[in-house]
Amino acid sequence: MTTKTVSLKIDEHEITAQEGKSILETAIENGIDIPHLCFLAGLTKTGACRLCIVELKGQAKLFASCSTPISDGMEVITNSEKLKAYRKNTIQLLLSERTHVCSVCVANKNCELQALADKLGVEHVAFEREWTSENVDSSHPFLVIDRNRCILCTRCVRVCDEIEGVHALDLKLRGKDSQIIVDFDDSWDKAASCTSCRKCAKVCPVGAIYVEGEPLSETKDTGIADFVLSRRKK
Ligand code: FES
Repeated sequence: MTTKTVSLKIDEHEITAQEGKSILETAIENGIDIPHLCFLAGLTKTGACRLCIVELKGQAKLFASCSTPISDGMEVITNSEKLKAYRKNTIQLLLSERTHVCSVCVANKNCELQALADKLGVEHVAFEREWTSENVDSSHPFLVIDRNRCILCTRCVRVCDEIEGVHALDLKLRGKDSQIIVDFDDSWDKAASCTSCRKCAKVCPVGAIYVEGEPLSETKDTGIADFVLSRRKK
């Protein structure tokens, strides 16, 4: 099978890439940084976090680069002042929606949301915060879910379904009220389908799912992104 290539421009870079890839995948392969949270190579794309937005020359609206395929002659702008402002707002909205207090979070210094807030220069949250008190489930022998930290990226749901193949995790409710549930909204110790594989904790970008008593630096420092990608290619 012949693989078709397309030529495009991302910022000042002239790039030739395989047809079918997304803008974000192409950017990552070419060492171009586009902020993102819900995307994880090897998992399906949901376009949930909207941090990866880019501008396309000749188009008025913004596009989620993780779910927009590349095309011939495309000219992508990844880092304009407009995009920076939108991304800062998005980070602030994520921080305001639940109880994100870094100093008392297990993911402090190992959190992708915190790292992006730092990188994008978010120094305060301009929106009224919702001090949620969602259910924290620590009934599993070592896995914990703190729904107050969840940013609804659904990486955990997708890795459980697409890589582990059990679909023990899912979402209930809608919009910002959505909640990650285990099986039929059971407590984790009653969830018959969970294999306790820990993949959900490894891919969680924040401190919402973690392994009790284990530093997040250890949980996450296992090349999970490469692992997910290698499983997907098989
Ligand atoms: Fe593209 Fe989240 S990474 S929308």
